[in-house]
Amino acid sequence: MMSVVRHTSDVRCLVSDWKAARRKVGFVPTMGALHAGHARLITESLAECDRTVVSIFVNPLQFDRKDDLESYPRSDEADLALLEELGVHLVYQPREKDMYPEGFVTRVVQEGLTETLCGAARPGHFDGVLTVVLKLFNVVQPDLAWFGQKDYQQVQVIRRMVKDLNCPVEVRMSPIVREADGLALSSRNRLLTPEQRAAAPRIFKALQKCDVAFRSGQRNVDALRVQVARELEGLPEARIDYVEITDPRSLLPRRSDAAEGDLLAVAVYLGAVRLIDNLLLGRS
Ligand code: PAJ
Repeated sequence: MMSVVRHTSDVRCLVSDWKAARRKVGFVPTMGALHAGHARLITESLAECDRTVVSIFVNPLQFDRKDDLESYPRSDEADLALLEELGVHLVYQPREKDMYPEGFVTRVVQEGLTETLCGAARPGHFDGVLTVVLKLFNVVQPDLAWFGQKDYQQVQVIRRMVKDLNCPVEVRMSPIVREADGLALSSRNRLLTPEQRAAAPRIFKALQKCDVAFRSGQRNVDALRVQVARELEGLPEARIDYVEITDPRSLLPRRSDAAEGDLLAVAVYLGAVRLIDNLLLGRS
């Protein structure tokens, strides 16, 4: 039986019983509008842990634009049906006023890793992510937590916080789940017009073409980035946010030559919808 709860005390009660019985607790934080990418993280948790907790919370703190928060897709009923079908044990769906009650002023702020890629493009975004993830870790107190490579920088930033703040959680990263045509699954895909949706798989194709060039010996970062940017510029209503090749650990942009395992990451707007994707050069 799946429990669906809104209050911290209910989560604590269930999880402390499981811990007393020495059950391994896995956790998958989400913002809902669930798809097969989320399901992959959840399935991995179910396979490795005795109990799996999923949270659904559209976190206002991590949105830098009000219209993005307001248009963020929500599908509570379908989400709960999917979670039940997968065999999740506990769904934590806090209310905003309980998460951020009046007087809430504390934030997790991280330097370094947050200063490039999505962190540079979306000021305050990762402070919002880290603050909510730390709060969720403190409530759920999982042994393991799963995050997707789709948000590669998010995983690195969370790993850094776990290390810096001694969170007793092991962080796992799952590969990107894609549609048959290559488009990385995202809750935002459902906001695309049919024309944008038809063109969107070209984002991953551009990454793959760059990877082919890298494998054929092209190492020059500017040449590789320009090639990707040209492909993306051809998309309807496209506005490139960034095309970067970075060290996969520091996330600092490479200046001259790319190396095997480097992160190739892009963010591009199709109309009002911001899509991101990435791959590790020479590794996928
Ligand atoms: P959300 O976008 O709902 O994503 C929840 C988790 O699913 C994240 O770890 C994300 O990387 C992963 N995910 C999304 N699309 C995926 C795909 N196509 N393949 C594999 N994994 C995928 O990321 C967030 O929510 C929030 O920032 C959160 C961590 C919940 C904090 O609010």
